[in-house]
Amino acid sequence: MAVGIFDSGLGGLTVLDACARHLPQVPFVYLGDNANAPYGVRDADDIYELTRAGVQRLFDAGCDLVILACNTASAAALRRMQENWLPSDKRVLGVFVPLIEALTERQWGDNSPPRNVAVEHVALFATPATVASRAFQRELAFRAIGVDVEAQACGGVVDAIEEGDMILAEALVRSHVEALKRKMPKPQAAILGCTHYPLLEEIFQAALGSDVTVYSQAKLVAASLGDYLERHPAMRGPGEVPMFLTTGDPLRVSNHATQFLRRKIDFHAA
Ligand code: DGL
Repeated sequence: MAVGIFDSGLGGLTVLDACARHLPQVPFVYLGDNANAPYGVRDADDIYELTRAGVQRLFDAGCDLVILACNTASAAALRRMQENWLPSDKRVLGVFVPLIEALTERQWGDNSPPRNVAVEHVALFATPATVASRAFQRELAFRAIGVDVEAQACGGVVDAIEEGDMILAEALVRSHVEALKRKMPKPQAAILGCTHYPLLEEIFQAALGSDVTVYSQAKLVAASLGDYLERHPAMRGPGEVPMFLTTGDPLRVSNHATQFLRRKIDFHAA
């Protein structure tokens, strides 16, 4: 009954952690492609090939359903994988839609025409590849009208987190928030559009100010996965054992993961 969770590196652990709390009976198999992180500065073909290889590894580990806990992979590879490659008995879900449904106050599967929503000025913080894809704006436009989105590509933040250099990551976040505010002085809401960023959520919130609502994906994705599994119980794959896999150095990745999640995590070679 295992479910796979994929990210370029450590960021997807924020999603894994929320999913494991929400669905304690489900064994999750996590795969971090740490050897190839960050994805956010790669081109779309490269992201597609790496993501496909990672998802295949999770299918091989007994998962029939994989969550792409990576906005960059969701933006650059998900649709192409679903259209060209995905075996008919497998599913891959991304992390954008639950977030946008929350922002636009929609229930799952509400496909009614776009309408006005409460927020009008939204700041999007994401990797350069996610920002370049404009996938967030596209998904939003299907559901809402009149929302002004200002996107800030947060170069360097994922590398710093993957290196465990949180002082640099925090300084970069503050400077990216300042840059965003120069373009949009008063955002009402901010989207953390990269699963690494919840590790710095307090820094984003402090730099943005307490009147800005910060949306981060982990809990929203966990709730949405819970709904999905209730509607599609057969998508729990045959795997039984929770695992943490990495393409990087298992010891180094385990140390960083243990530091981030504040519990012991043991990664194994993928
Ligand atoms: N956590 C991934 C995301 O959500 C990280 C991207 C990267 O590897 O640059 O976009």
